[in-house]
Amino acid sequence: MPHSLKLFQTSTFRLSALYLVLFALSVGAILAYVYWNTALLLERQTDETIRAEVQGLADQYRLRGLAGIIDTIQRRSKEDTGSVYLLTDPASQPVAGNLDKLPQQATGTMDWIEFPITTQRGGNSEQHLARAFHADLQGDYDLVVGRDVEAMRQFADIIRQTVFWALAIALCLGFGGGLLMSRNFLRRVDAITDASRNIMGGNLAGRMPVTGSGDELDRLAQALNEMLDQIGRLMAGLQEVSSNVAHDLKTPLTRVKARVESALRSGNSGEYREALEKTVEESDKLLQTFNALLSIARAEAGHSRSGLEPIDGRSVLAEVAELYEPLAEEQGGKLTVNAEVPLPLHADRQLLAQAINNLIDNALKYGAQEGAGPEITVSGAIEDDHVVIAVGDHGIGIPPEDRDHVVERFVRLDQSRSLPGNGLGLSLVAGVMKLHGGQLVLDDNHPGLLAKLILPVREAAG
Ligand SMILES: Nc1ncnc2c1ncn2[C@@H]1O[C@H](COP(=O)(O)OP(=O)(O)O)[C@@H](O)[C@H]1O
Ligand SMILES: [Mg+2]
Repeated sequence: MPHSLKLFQTSTFRLSALYLVLFALSVGAILAYVYWNTALLLERQTDETIRAEVQGLADQYRLRGLAGIIDTIQRRSKEDTGSVYLLTDPASQPVAGNLDKLPQQATGTMDWIEFPITTQRGGNSEQHLARAFHADLQGDYDLVVGRDVEAMRQFADIIRQTVFWALAIALCLGFGGGLLMSRNFLRRVDAITDASRNIMGGNLAGRMPVTGSGDELDRLAQALNEMLDQIGRLMAGLQEVSSNVAHDLKTPLTRVKARVESALRSGNSGEYREALEKTVEESDKLLQTFNALLSIARAEAGHSRSGLEPIDGRSVLAEVAELYEPLAEEQGGKLTVNAEVPLPLHADRQLLAQAINNLIDNALKYGAQEGAGPEITVSGAIEDDHVVIAVGDHGIGIPPEDRDHVVERFVRLDQSRSLPGNGLGLSLVAGVMKLHGGQLVLDDNHPGLLAKLILPVREAAG
């Protein structure tokens, strides 16, 4: 499409065109009203003055006769008021006044007439227009009384022209302004369109242009850029996860393959059996990893939000404690649960239990002190308007700089690689927290790790 056509199609142009038309219509109507009123008022006033004067002169004629009216006309003719007078006798000869002959239109009945007159202005003679009333007096005398209306007509002309030009200029300015605005608008929309094509074309680092003016287009561009940033982050995360998944699955599969191959080579049925058993074991671990990955994905996607129900977090803590207390004691340690108040939550019971399981599982694995079993405290409390469920141990803990990092999928710190695990436990906890609108916070337990689940308290009505 040609660029100029596109200009006319912008909403900015259409809007300004619409406003322009409305503006022109209303301004035109107002100016026309002013014009007609001014011009008509002036004309009417002149006509009334003239009519009153004719009336006065006719009265004079009736009361004081010919001499009286001649006297008055002559007196008034001498004053330079822009008035014209003429009195003619039955033979149409001028008797008094400042016109030398009866204008041509002044024939027949009484009426309004208009005719040119010559006036002296600063030594020059000028042609002016006069408007007059022509009356037949008794005895066939003709009386013409008028005014020089040139100035009035010129004034009306000026008003008319002003109206015309004002409208014309307003229309031009409006049209030009509309074009300019839409061109500016179009240019910026084009820039955004180009930028998005560019990004779609593969330049994923590209961003929408922001002019810094903070206007609506800037805000739109900024929002789009934030969206692109977020998509970029998600894509990078996804890439890392898939490469981590590939890497983490490759190792056990390679192990399985090597073991099966060596068993096959040995030809020994005892080794076959052992290899198969190990394979089943590894497959179980792989399945666990896959299940964990799927659970995380589901929790993060928020699929099971519909599964959220009102529960008391205390009962979940009690169940979990029952499960893990014997395990802790078996390892020569202790697990104590501390939850005095009800913990009203809106949560998925199973996922929440899974999250707490994962934390206690870590505490059992990494929380053992030198020479003694793990001392684990599980507590539930209400702080402000949050339910805080905390699992603490006194093991090696996680250094502050690693606390963000360990939540990511497959991340295991070097210090704990000797222990079994897939690095997905905390990721699932974080996913479950996200699903519940809560937060996983890792803290120092002096020594050890204090993992806190911070969840919104269920509203009394909900
Ligand atoms: N209670 C803890 N004390 C010390 N380190 C911990 C604790 N919990 C988790 N970690 C560290 O965080 C890493 C990730 O934990 P997690 O996601 O549960 O994976 P996994 O338990 O399979 O190793 C662990 O490998 C460990 O290095
Ligand atoms: Mg774990």
